Amino acid sequence: MDRWYALLEQVLQEVRAREPPGASDVSLMAHLLRLVDPATGRPLSDAQLLPELGIVFVAGMETSGKTMGWTLYCISQHSEVEARIAAELAGHGLLAAPGQPAPRTPAHDDLAKLGYLNRESMRLYPVAASGTARQTERDMTMGGRTIPAGTVLVVPLYPLMNSPHVWDCPAEFRPDRWLEEDAEYLSSDARKRGCVTEAGRSAPAAPADAVLAKRFIPFSDGPRDCVGRNLATMNIVTTLATLLGRFTFRLAETMGGPQGVRAKERLLSTLQIEGGMKMHAVPRVMGL
Ligand code: HEM
Repeated sequence: MDRWYALLEQVLQEVRAREPPGASDVSLMAHLLRLVDPATGRPLSDAQLLPELGIVFVAGMETSGKTMGWTLYCISQHSEVEARIAAELAGHGLLAAPGQPAPRTPAHDDLAKLGYLNRESMRLYPVAASGTARQTERDMTMGGRTIPAGTVLVVPLYPLMNSPHVWDCPAEFRPDRWLEEDAEYLSSDARKRGCVTEAGRSAPAAPADAVLAKRFIPFSDGPRDCVGRNLATMNIVTTLATLLGRFTFRLAETMGGPQGVRAKERLLSTLQIEGGMKMHAVPRVMGL
């Protein structure tokens, strides 16, 4: 923690030493520097700005970066998915080709068209794997149990998004499940019948009153869900589209294949690979 705070102090000093941001500067830092504390009417003090910087590092960069790593890994292991993504990118003019070595830069309008890219990897490898916590304000009943007021409830995201009670074949990377309407909700049919496991069995159905309707919540849910989710989605989808439009990705031999990746999985501040996910980026068009 001492080293972490020293690093943040250093970044803070560098930010303070810069010229004040111009009116056209829309960076996150410029927004933070323009903020005014309503209690004092003054810009944020160092003590207020420092934790905000910490949030941008941990909540912002770490999460988005690791999500992109997991996504590139998943795609690299499934040639049929990779081919489909390439076709989708080509259809939107985002794929490098011999006559077009540098495709156009993805724009905001492309976000809605590229939903196939990242959702399944965010389900399989939710980087905020340990989830979040909430304290109950009143007595409540959930799944047949009474939970007294003041209880701290932990909502772990990895088990929820990998559970055979709410997903068919949860261990399989199947981006096609996102082509179904309302895929982020557990259908009432699946609620009744239970889901199908990889072994072809039916996992027990969820209890009738279980609050499981929304099953895809990598950014959590509710009034205090991730404040950066739109920024993160924009960043992840446009960066992945840019990278995948220009390169194909291959897992480095040193990773030891999927078994090696599984063995190196660690849950630290985020779900990640010990030593990083090493991959080769192979240009789609030579000389790129
Ligand atoms: C893949 C990317 C990201 C994932 C998976 C993610 C996930 C999460 C999750 C699960 C929470 C907990 C919410 C809760 O307690 O209900 C959270 C909170 C938060 N995230 Fe993110 N996040 C991501 C990107 C970002 C970015 C880009 C930023 C800002 C630049 C950000 C800023 C925050 C902040 C400030 C909170 C605390 C919100 C609050 O307590 O009201 N996150 N995030």
